[in-house]
Amino acid sequence: MRKINQFGGSWTEDKLNRLRKYLSAYTTIFTKNQKARYYKTVYVDAFAGTGYRSAYLSVGTIGIFPELEEEDTQKFLKGSAIIALETEPSFNQYLLIERDPEKVEELQKLKEKFPHKEIKVINEDANIYLKKWCQETDWCHFRAVVFLDPYGMEVDWSLIEAIGKTQAIDLWILFPLGIAVNRLLTHNNLPPPEWERALTRIFGTEEWKEAFYSHRKEATLFGEQERYIKDADFDIIGKFFIDRLKTVFYRVAENPLPLRNSRSIPIYLLCFAAGNPKGADIAIKIAQHILGR
Ligand SMILES: C[S@@+](CC[C@H](N)C(=O)[O-])C[C@H]1O[C@@H](n2cnc3c(N)ncnc32)[C@H](O)[C@@H]1O
Repeated sequence: MRKINQFGGSWTEDKLNRLRKYLSAYTTIFTKNQKARYYKTVYVDAFAGTGYRSAYLSVGTIGIFPELEEEDTQKFLKGSAIIALETEPSFNQYLLIERDPEKVEELQKLKEKFPHKEIKVINEDANIYLKKWCQETDWCHFRAVVFLDPYGMEVDWSLIEAIGKTQAIDLWILFPLGIAVNRLLTHNNLPPPEWERALTRIFGTEEWKEAFYSHRKEATLFGEQERYIKDADFDIIGKFFIDRLKTVFYRVAENPLPLRNSRSIPIYLLCFAAGNPKGADIAIKIAQHILGR
């Protein structure tokens, strides 16, 4: 059976529209600018899904087909991989990474749909494959845009670090602000060890404890104990992540975009970082304009 990614609401549309704008600005520069034309461009979708995503549309109000009243109909929309493949001017290469083998089968079909594009589909954990790819690619000849679009806490900081180190990649990343990170930050004490490890893995440091909690010593039945209270809100957590990106990228967009659900909770923060010292200023200018609220 055909497997389609089912995820997201109108913020998904918003996220993909902004990505689409950036990709086309990027390839335009690399086609028109004489110095930039020297490089081969790669689009990397490290959490690629199937290429499609599904949206449920309510048709209950149409009134023409009573048998459809109150039912929902499913519509297949373009996901990030297809949006990138349709970008004009085109990237020279496409690297699509997906862990789920059934989704990989769908991604493979994109080679038939886009026969003239150079598409590589990889069925692996992006954290492992992409890190290696960053280390082994000859960045004297390549430039890339990487899109990291996880559901939750799947991106390891070590991958972000490897991407930054290339000094050749522009990164778009969905940071799981409200959907995961804020939920793991328990209120009246530090999170349990497993959650602590997940937070340290995504931030690449334990400094989040100091940044998000105040602590004091309290006398208890068992003697004096350290007590932690969560101070962090969405703004503080988001700013901490942006500051972390600044430790490994040449420049980082200062206006990351909160993607909100229907209850206005910022479930993700859409962030942009530029790794190449020569290209960073223009990349940031374009990205900040696209992110602009
Ligand atoms: C939010 S979906 C991506 C949606 C896609 N960007 C789109 O626009 O259609 C996240 C995808 O990442 C995949 N995934 C989760 N963990 C992964 C990992 N460690 N490596 C590679 N893919 C992973 C999931 O199977 C899922 O298909």
